[in-house]
Amino acid sequence: MDKLTIRRPDDMHLHLRDGEMLRAVLPETARHFSRALVMPNLVPPVVTGREATAYRDRILAAKPQGSDFRPLMTLYLTEDTDVHDMRAAFESGLITAVKLYPAGATTNSASGVADFTKVKPVLEEMARIGLPLCVHGEVTDPTVDIFDREAVFIDRVLDPIRRDVPGLRVVMEHITTSDAVAYVRDGGEDLAATITTHHLVINRNHILAGGIKPHYYCLPVAKRETHRLALVSAAISGEAAFFLGTDSAPHADAAKLLPCGCAGCFTATNTMSVLAELFESEDALDRLEGFISVYGAAFYRLPPNAGTLTLVKGDPVTYPASIAAGDDFVTVFDPDMPLHWRVED
Ligand code: DOR
Ligand code: ZN
Repeated sequence: MDKLTIRRPDDMHLHLRDGEMLRAVLPETARHFSRALVMPNLVPPVVTGREATAYRDRILAAKPQGSDFRPLMTLYLTEDTDVHDMRAAFESGLITAVKLYPAGATTNSASGVADFTKVKPVLEEMARIGLPLCVHGEVTDPTVDIFDREAVFIDRVLDPIRRDVPGLRVVMEHITTSDAVAYVRDGGEDLAATITTHHLVINRNHILAGGIKPHYYCLPVAKRETHRLALVSAAISGEAAFFLGTDSAPHADAAKLLPCGCAGCFTATNTMSVLAELFESEDALDRLEGFISVYGAAFYRLPPNAGTLTLVKGDPVTYPASIAAGDDFVTVFDPDMPLHWRVED
């Protein structure tokens, strides 16, 4: 097979930032994706319906001419989230999900949740109205090894929350472990997971072997190869609980290449090529459409996208090493393998 036409895809986990960075990265996603679930971890975060409306309008204003890209907005859950404001934002169609960051877990998560009992009334209302909770699934306990933080989160936080709030619809974001794959497989129809492009193709050796590679550092951090293989098996399985959320997370090189650099891989530019290459190598190209264009929309109860996207296979495809964002540069994710699939114009 050297040509594949599928329904246009959705990216169910994306960081677009704001201002100059937003204008630089939005075209990279809008070129291929019809919709994306936009993360609210700006500084300050997008907490209220009013803030989500303003952010949505800034995204729409930054859209390339002629693009029909639609941002799916989220609210950032805090211990002070106003239930009425959240419900109104959902019922008006403004927001698609609410994002839970454990306080201190990752980039711009300082306003996140430290005491989960404080958000129980909000979660109960979300269960009642069917508003999904997107979860950054890592504990922040400094005594827990960073490679174990996702597995421990499932036992200590996520499973207790789901038992405590039956009917809550949860997406475990950017899963990185076989533990998460198993938990989601067992979780019933109210539980799903996103898988990123980068976690499907790198393991922790990419970050640490032969010199430290800051551009492969993200959170949750990539784990050992057995976990990557579990993620690949989930992504190509055709199980509707697993769908694409790239977590494409742009940071200026100046903020990545520091003694304490930021977490995030910027994959928006070449994600389609990387995924096609991976699915082909797994003899699973026929499962790509479900993973990127069908299951995410179905979980969020959105209509499938109308248009199509065609991938063609040919000579190796190259991408720029970085894109400009104002005076800064954002390094494009290097999948460390040749790519042969490109999106037909
Ligand atoms: O690698 C990451 N980058 N993980 C996150 O959870 C946040 C994201 C960001 O906003 O940069
Ligand atoms: Zn993210």
